[in-house]
Amino acid sequence: MRILVAGATGAIGRRLVPMLVGAGHEVVGLTRSPGKAPALRVAGAEPVVADALDAGAVMAAMRKAAPEVVVHELTAIPAMLDFRKIGQQFALTNRLRTEGTDHLIAAALELGARRFVAQSYAGWPYARTGGPVKTEEDPLDTRPPASLRGILEAIRYLEKTVTAASGIEGIVLRYGGFYGPGNAIGERGALLDQVRQRRIPIVGHGTGIWSFIHIDDAARATLAAIECGKQGIYNIVDDDPARVSTWLPVLASILEAKPPRHVPVWLARLLIGEQGIMFMTDVRGASNAKAKRELGWEPHWASWREGFAQALGEDGPAVDRGVERAASVV
Ligand SMILES: NC(=O)c1ccc[n+]([C@@H]2O[C@H](COP(=O)([O-])OP(=O)(O)OC[C@H]3O[C@@H](n4cnc5c(N)ncnc54)[C@H](OP(=O)(O)O)[C@@H]3O)[C@@H](O)[C@H]2O)c1
Repeated sequence: MRILVAGATGAIGRRLVPMLVGAGHEVVGLTRSPGKAPALRVAGAEPVVADALDAGAVMAAMRKAAPEVVVHELTAIPAMLDFRKIGQQFALTNRLRTEGTDHLIAAALELGARRFVAQSYAGWPYARTGGPVKTEEDPLDTRPPASLRGILEAIRYLEKTVTAASGIEGIVLRYGGFYGPGNAIGERGALLDQVRQRRIPIVGHGTGIWSFIHIDDAARATLAAIECGKQGIYNIVDDDPARVSTWLPVLASILEAKPPRHVPVWLARLLIGEQGIMFMTDVRGASNAKAKRELGWEPHWASWREGFAQALGEDGPAVDRGVERAASVV
């Protein structure tokens, strides 16, 4: 198939493009920077240059690409999130999820592409009621802290626009928290020094549940969705949703750091605000049953326990030493 990847140079795009090429697909990689074109060529993709927020430029790039499938992996999430400023930090990502989605879908429809696969997030957007692990059928949060409302609105917009589009098969992949090459939990990742310096505490009882996914498992699931996904939403997470009170000490131990400190909720509220408390004590995990059933996909790293150790170089050869970027897990 001929596939356009918007976000081909990002954390997931860099892993996905070679996999698509290896599976025999023709790949066109979208970037804003002509300077990144050579790296895309090395990865086996044909580069096209456009700003996804410029409708005319997107249409021109798509005309050149003439894709059967469009993959939307556009985000602009900072290397390290500051929970207190998260609303501002996501402003551009919100635009990519709304305006960027509109421009890509409009061009995909006009040019007769048949499938559209877009990135979303399986974690804090789920409603913080009921059981600890959520399926795609479960509702999203209707009362997030004020600073997260704009982000959730943009996520809802992307998901609705993609899955309700007529004339194209719209698939949304709700990825768990990424780790591995190019991510905050990965070699030289932005979170590691914070954990080593005990700057990420367990808040309250650490009851927030996180679902993770190795970036290569996320890329493999994306390949499966491109090839055989059906219109709708899939959680792309590992088999082992875990409380912060479980995964954070394991990460510290892999890094040979002292165990994380404990901080009471009242104190954390001053340091990381209501949204930070929510991430650390109240969020829910996600189930991958649908993706396994319908995409014929299984995460190679079924649990973050082994995945973290491998990604951080403890368990065999270190992965992808060339990747220097660090980024957030949220
Ligand atoms: N599930 C998760 O944990 C999750 C989900 C999403 C993101 N993240 C994290 O957030 C971090 C950032 O992700 P990332 O690699 O996607 O970020 P990034 O390095 O900012 O890359 C984003 C991608 O979007 C493209 N892009 C951004 N704005 C664009 C625009 N206006 N027009 C065209 N292309 C545009 C970039 O292309 P150019 O720069 O080449 O133009 C790049 O390919 C990652 O480390 C990732 O782990 C995590």
